[in-house]
Amino acid sequence: MAHAVLLSSLIFAAARANPIARDVANQTMVTPFSALQWTPCYDNFTCARLIVPLDYAEPDAGNTTIAYIKLPSATQPAEDILYNPGGPGNSGVDAVLHGSAQLLNTLGTTYNLIGFDPRGVNNSGPSLSCFPGDPASEALFKSQFHRPINSKSPESLARQFEIAGAWGERCSSVHRNDSARYVGTIATARDMLNYVEKRAVAEGQEVKVAKLWYWGISYGTVLGSTFATLFPDRIGRMILDGVVDVETYYKNNASGLSQSDEAVLSFAKACHTAGREKCAFYSSTTKDITKRMRNIIEDVRKDPVPVADLAISPVPTLITYEDLVFTLFVLLYSPVQGFPLLAQIFAELEQRNGSSIALTIQAVPPTGVDYGGLISCMDSVKVPGAYNISTMAIWEQHVKEENKQSQWVGDGWATVSLLCRKMNIIPPESQRFSGKLGANETSFPILFIGNTIDPITPIVGARRMSNLFPGSVLFTQDSIGHTSLAASSACTSHNVQQYLGGVLPAANITCKIESVPFITDV
Ligand SMILES: *[C@@H]1O[C@H](CO)[C@@H](O)[C@H](O)[C@H]1NC(C)=O
Ligand SMILES: *[C@@H]1O[C@H](CO)[C@@H](O)[C@H](O)[C@H]1NC(C)=O
Ligand SMILES: *[C@@H]1O[C@H](CO)[C@@H](O)[C@H](O)[C@H]1NC(C)=O
Ligand SMILES: *[C@@H]1O[C@H](CO)[C@@H](O)[C@H](O)[C@H]1NC(C)=O
Ligand SMILES: *[C@@H]1O[C@H](CO)[C@@H](O)[C@H](O)[C@H]1NC(C)=O
Ligand SMILES: *[C@@H]1O[C@H](CO)[C@@H](O)[C@H](O)[C@H]1NC(C)=O
Ligand SMILES: *[C@@H]1O[C@H](CO)[C@@H](O)[C@H](O)[C@H]1NC(C)=O
Ligand SMILES: *[C@@H]1O[C@H](CO)[C@@H](O)[C@H](O)[C@H]1NC(C)=O
Ligand SMILES: *[C@@H]1O[C@H](CO)[C@@H](O)[C@H](O)[C@H]1NC(C)=O
Ligand SMILES: *[C@@H]1O[C@H](CO)[C@@H](O)[C@H](O)[C@H]1NC(C)=O
Repeated sequence: MAHAVLLSSLIFAAARANPIARDVANQTMVTPFSALQWTPCYDNFTCARLIVPLDYAEPDAGNTTIAYIKLPSATQPAEDILYNPGGPGNSGVDAVLHGSAQLLNTLGTTYNLIGFDPRGVNNSGPSLSCFPGDPASEALFKSQFHRPINSKSPESLARQFEIAGAWGERCSSVHRNDSARYVGTIATARDMLNYVEKRAVAEGQEVKVAKLWYWGISYGTVLGSTFATLFPDRIGRMILDGVVDVETYYKNNASGLSQSDEAVLSFAKACHTAGREKCAFYSSTTKDITKRMRNIIEDVRKDPVPVADLAISPVPTLITYEDLVFTLFVLLYSPVQGFPLLAQIFAELEQRNGSSIALTIQAVPPTGVDYGGLISCMDSVKVPGAYNISTMAIWEQHVKEENKQSQWVGDGWATVSLLCRKMNIIPPESQRFSGKLGANETSFPILFIGNTIDPITPIVGARRMSNLFPGSVLFTQDSIGHTSLAASSACTSHNVQQYLGGVLPAANITCKIESVPFITDV
């Protein structure tokens, strides 16, 4: 999937932030132990860091630390639910610290919510930076390599191909002798087992039967189904939401666009239905809306839109076709907030005004490299049938396939698989995916959740994954967007809470939603 694709927690990050008092303990001040010891941090939370072996099969390889944050339930004792916000590369500490209110809407308040930073991410070791100690160079590089391409420009294709290779060579050389190779998803899954065992020790419970309670969205479904494959008898509860086709993920195959165009058409329909008052890009027919969008996209491709207003951007800047495709794609993830903004962006661009899109790009830059890129490349190393875009001809073919899947955003995530083409950081054998996913029997059935239209993890992924775990239950949320968090649904919350309580939803139910793009206030 255009996995990085899976940058899910993303976008409205700025809007959800709670102010954090500066003078309270934070993650970096927590002493790591090999036992689980919680320390108060950030006002309402407790934090812990666990010392773990880099390689559970090879204790001599050394140790690293994993960072945890807990929002305790008001009622104790309570189960711990580990949450992964996707990526790979997204910080679970950050997601729980700043986004707990929305998560508790779904989970209810009778569980401890635990965020953690997977290996290599944010507050957990080891460091994956390919520009150690040099954030300025990192920022400069990020502006040269980005996720979207312009498939009608041979120069754009060649540039991104070559710069991806340079990045792979650089990262491989920086990390040649260090512990970066120990950060794959298999290792992180093992860290989750370590957490539940350390918790059992701390609570005086039996260790070998301790079970994981887990909610993963987007890439978090890769992590969860990997855990379920490795440790099927250690599942207490597992909710996998916004489901990646995990077998293609491990093959480094970006191919999650089969519903992206439906999501774009849903935008046009919602705008038309909302009417002139509510939708800034209204037209009398849905078809006219998509026609105007296409004209604007082609206009911007030929002639980028300048933004000179100092109040918008400190540097005069250009809005390019790549910027527009990226922004369109990202705003499809969260229609309730995203569609009205998208309407405003297109209405302005029709007048060749780039104010709103420039501000959106500042909040969510179309960067193509982050630590998650290293994790997903390492995950595909030596996987049978893994996809490696080693030549320009394969790259051109890949771009064609992406555009066949989506005529609107096929260019949007094309570079995700390309990133691995010269990456040469090889995880130890004990941390490589065998190529075989699934389990015939899990100690508790997995709950899969998929939206009817998801622009990046299409519902077909949830069906395929559910089939690999017989006994699992799939329910659908009748909404557009990425993961069930894209809309509010009392029915989804009810079913999730029933599931956590031990009651499986009936087969094949579909949950209605309450939040409607253009109608619900944001
Ligand atoms: C954590 O606290 C230390 C000591 O007060 C401070 O130096 C550091 O900047 C803080 N880090 C974050 C991420 O807030
Ligand atoms: C802690 O909880 C209080 C009361 O609910 C709230 O006002 C405050 O913003 C919370 N602090 C953090 C860091 O979430
Ligand atoms: C790793 O941590 C364990 C537990 O704290 C410790 O016993 C061991 O010596 C450490 N290993 C290394 C190589 O530092
Ligand atoms: C990493 O976590 C800290 C809080 O522990 C947060 O301030 C920071 O924004 C996070 N960084 C990212 C990239 O998520
Ligand atoms: C890695 O190790 C080799 C051999 O010990 C050494 O020549 C090389 O300089 C090291 N590279 C880095 C980036 O530390
Ligand atoms: C990628 O996955 C898609 C969908 O499963 C498949 O059609 C395509 O052939 C795969 N491409 C490669 C290069 O493996
Ligand atoms: C661009 O549009 C915004 C919002 O409608 C408006 O405030 C701004 O003045 C416009 N900028 C120019 C240069 O017309
Ligand atoms: C892809 O192939 C190139 C050589 O063709 C190799 O150097 C690179 O390590 C491969 N990448 C992966 C992730 O296997
Ligand atoms: C599940 O059972 C089927 C039929 O016995 C078998 O073919 C398959 O390999 C099993 N899957 C796993 C993951 O063990
Ligand atoms: C659920 O849906 C699947 C796919 O549409 C179908 O094969 C299956 O029979 C349905 N199960 C029930 C119990 O309705």
